[in-house]
Amino acid sequence: MKQNCFVDVRDVYKDFGSDGPAGGAIRVIDGVSMTIDEGEFIVYLGPSGCGKTTLMRIVGGLETASAGEVSLAGEIVTGPDRRKGMVFQAYTSFPWLTVLENIRFGTRYRDDIGKKEKDDIARHYLELVGLKDYGDFYVNRISGGMRQRVAIARTLAAAPEILLMDEPFGALDAQTRDFLQEQLLRICRLERKAAIFVTHDVEEAVFLADRVIMFSARPATIVEEIHVTNELGKERTEETKESEVFFHLRNHVRDLMRKQSGLKG
Ligand SMILES: Nc1ncnc2c1ncn2[C@@H]1O[C@H](COP(=O)(O)OP(=O)(O)O)[C@@H](O)[C@H]1O
Ligand SMILES: [Mg+2]
Repeated sequence: MKQNCFVDVRDVYKDFGSDGPAGGAIRVIDGVSMTIDEGEFIVYLGPSGCGKTTLMRIVGGLETASAGEVSLAGEIVTGPDRRKGMVFQAYTSFPWLTVLENIRFGTRYRDDIGKKEKDDIARHYLELVGLKDYGDFYVNRISGGMRQRVAIARTLAAAPEILLMDEPFGALDAQTRDFLQEQLLRICRLERKAAIFVTHDVEEAVFLADRVIMFSARPATIVEEIHVTNELGKERTEETKESEVFFHLRNHVRDLMRKQSGLKG
C-alpha cells in the first residue's frame, strides 16, 4: 500500500438494509481500495446504479462504510465537514440570495478569517468562475450553467481540501457542459485541489481525469484504473477531444463501459 497518499480508501464495503432481517441487505460496494494524490483529479465512472454516488458519499463522510475506512490527509473520515467540499447535480443555491451572497455563504464555517476577508474571498471566487458581472443577480435569474458555477465557487470559498462532485454538469446542455469542463479543470489546477468527479459519461471522464476509476456494475469493484495524464498530459483544451490519443483512450474506456453495462459479451 502507498504511504502518505492524500486520500486513502481502504477495503471499503457497503451494504444497504443490513440492519433489517438477515438476507435483506443489498451489497453496493464490494471491497474497493484506491488512493488519491494531492492535486489529483479522479473520475469515478461506471454504469448507472453501480455505487459511484455511495462511494463518493462515504469519502465525504455523508455515509458510513459497512467495512473498511477512508482517510483524508492522514485522518480517518467520520463525518462531513468543510474539508470535503461537495457539488451536486441539482442546483443547490439559495434563490433569495444574490450570486455573491450565495458564494459568501460558503465561508460561514470559517473561523480562521474575519468578515472583510470573507467578503474578499467571495469576490475572488466570483471572478474565478467568470461571474464578475453577475454578483448582484438573484440566482433564479441566471442560467443553469451559471448556477453550477455559483455552486462551485461557494464550495471553494469554504476552502475544502478535496472537491467531491456528483454529476454536476449532468443537467446541462452539451455546449455549456464542454465549457464548464474546461473552466473546472483550470480552477482545480490553479487551486491545486484534489477532486473526485462522478459521471457516467465516457467523454467527460477522459477529458477531465488524471485517472479514471472504472467500476463494475453493482456491487461496485474496480475494473481498471486508466492513467489518462500519463498519455494526454495535464493540459486539456478544446483540441484535446480531437486528438488521436484522446480518441484511443475514449474508445478503450467506452469498451470497458459497454462491458460493464452488459451491452457487450
Ligand atoms: N440510502 C439507500 N438505501 C438503500 N439503497 C440505496 C441507498 N442509496 C443507494 N442505494 C442503492 O445503491 C445502489 C447504488 O446507488 P448509487 O451509489 O446512487 O449508484 P450510482 O451513483 O453509481 O448511480 C443502487 O441500487 C441504489 O438503489
Ligand atoms: Mg449517482
